[in-house]
Amino acid sequence: MSAVPKLDGKVAIVTGAGRGIGRAVALKLAREGAAVVVNDRDEAPTRDTAVSIAKAGSRSAICVGSVTDVDFGERFVKTALDEFGGLDVVVNNAGYTWDSVIQKMSDEQFQAIMDVHVTAPFRILRAASEPFRKFAKQEASEGREVFRKVVNISSVVGTGGNAGQVNYASAKAAVIGMTKTLAKEWGRYKVNVNCVAFGFIHTAMTQPLSSTGDKKVGVPPDLIEKLERDFIPLGRLGTPEEAADGVYLFCSPESNYISGQVITVGGGIVF
Ligand code: CAA
Repeated sequence: MSAVPKLDGKVAIVTGAGRGIGRAVALKLAREGAAVVVNDRDEAPTRDTAVSIAKAGSRSAICVGSVTDVDFGERFVKTALDEFGGLDVVVNNAGYTWDSVIQKMSDEQFQAIMDVHVTAPFRILRAASEPFRKFAKQEASEGREVFRKVVNISSVVGTGGNAGQVNYASAKAAVIGMTKTLAKEWGRYKVNVNCVAFGFIHTAMTQPLSSTGDKKVGVPPDLIEKLERDFIPLGRLGTPEEAADGVYLFCSPESNYISGQVITVGGGIVF
């Protein structure tokens, strides 16, 4: 007899799940039994992840749009409640980089990165606070303890800094403050709020540098080689699936007594 999947009956929402790490997280949670609301700003990759979830035998719904839209948080949470009648796991994954040294960084460039990595998770979690509190009060009145999970994504750039990324480093450090604060506010509602700080993972962010409009995307070509040789103890970049495994740790019942923590999933990088 096969074991019941660990997230059976749970409802998860994952931002930026059309590609890369977010897609791997959505698939991992779905394979572990969760129904997943998949978000990406583009419709085609969002649908593609939903199709893959269906092939894995799980349920999903989609919520297409930019996490930076003012009403996105409310819409995202409502999708989970309308489609699946609950909300158990929130993964704030969506984001991108727009690098420059500080003397070349515009206000727009700094603010855009704060908007996507800090303001958007804040709005999503504020929207989630209503159902979280309502469900927790109901469960407490029935004498039940049901744990819910928030996993915010930070970075070794947020814990250690990185030349060329003052916007992203500031945003990813802010995510840690948000995590620790909500762990304190939401313990009473049995919500575990934790943070995964990724190291260097194979995604669009770590591709050799190219230009999209006025935005440079990726890293200088020799940087990956240097990181793998001198900086990452395990000697290579991580895969999106390995990154997703780190997120899953904080979604599983084994983390029910862990909250307000940051773990680095970085192949041994320590800051
Ligand atoms: N430290 C300080 N100053 C630097 C520098 C550094 N490492 N590299 C360049 N500079 C300075 C130069 O000296 C130069 O200064 P002056 O104007 O006084 O001469 C100025 O910056 C411009 O130099 P360049 O034109 O050669 O450099 P650039 O602006 O094209 O790019 C950079 C410089 C932005 C630092 C670039 O090397 C870069 O993008 N680095 C960061 C890449 C990176 O690590 N990205 C991480 C991707 S993975 C990720 O983000 C995910 C995650 O969570 C881990």
